[in-house]
Amino acid sequence: MHQIELFDTKPLQERQHIVNVATVPQRSPFRYPGGKTWLIPRIRQWLLKQGGLNKELIEPFTGGGIVSLTAVFEDLVGQVTMVEKDEGVAAVWQTILEDDAEWLADAIRNFHLTPENARRAIETSDQSLRSLAFATIVKNRVNRGGILADAASFIRQGENGKGITSRWYPETLQKRILAIAKMRHKIKFIKGDGFEICEQNAHRKDAIYFIDPPYINAGRRLYRYSIINHKGLFELANKLEGDFLMSYDNNQESQALAAHQGFTIKSISMKNTHHAEKKELLIGRDLSWLLQ
Ligand SMILES: C[S@@+](CC[C@H](N)C(=O)[O-])C[C@H]1O[C@@H](n2cnc3c(N)ncnc32)[C@H](O)[C@@H]1O
Repeated sequence: MHQIELFDTKPLQERQHIVNVATVPQRSPFRYPGGKTWLIPRIRQWLLKQGGLNKELIEPFTGGGIVSLTAVFEDLVGQVTMVEKDEGVAAVWQTILEDDAEWLADAIRNFHLTPENARRAIETSDQSLRSLAFATIVKNRVNRGGILADAASFIRQGENGKGITSRWYPETLQKRILAIAKMRHKIKFIKGDGFEICEQNAHRKDAIYFIDPPYINAGRRLYRYSIINHKGLFELANKLEGDFLMSYDNNQESQALAAHQGFTIKSISMKNTHHAEKKELLIGRDLSWLLQ
């Protein structure tokens, strides 16, 4: 896969007019199932109307974290709080953000990726936070679709028949990990339950939320923790003082839950990894900022 690394250095006001362009720098160390890189131009539109550096973005279902990372790297908010329940994913964020980024970056650079070495790294992964973080990165790169759920299997053919090495880019990963570590004064990570963190911050007027939970339907095979109380999440969103943006699979259930709370919905086209067009829902109190 060819990565395009572009950085938008224009001032904030000028950037307001630049939307819907395919200049989304890949900043995450993960290739994340259900990842929202494709939605970033829309998320920039939303963040740009939020009052910028006075706001803290809370991401209760962080996964690969591209939304939080973009917000921090592009100075769209002052601070982010990322929350994730999956122990392996959390270990990666903890290792990068709690002073061990260089160790992780070096371990990736020095790893000789073979099926045997990958299997060994994964099997010995519960011994320490470091080993769990490293094994999670390996799994995410060698498993089909980057899936970390327990039943996931290795890539078979991969790109150009390269098998498990077809998504292994050690230098790119090293650069991304070290770049994130440099920003860690603006990033707080919490291993835990996104619901609880939203509850705790619900009264805050300076907090905003990007809420991207596991899909109602397709989530089950993608994540270790894929079942959540969707009705409860909509009720919780309604209690938040700060603005929020939710992303959901477009089906009758999510539409009904949104309607029940009086939220606005808009369907957005996306291309999935097989380049088939699919619709997702954006949900919020007011989506009038959404340019087409
Ligand atoms: C759709 S993914 C998020 C993808 C992310 N927006 C991205 O771009 O990479 C949903 C995430 O929620 C996590 N999750 C599930 N239940 C959770 C909970 N109760 N609290 C926090 N995270 C949870 C899953 O492990 C998964 O990583």
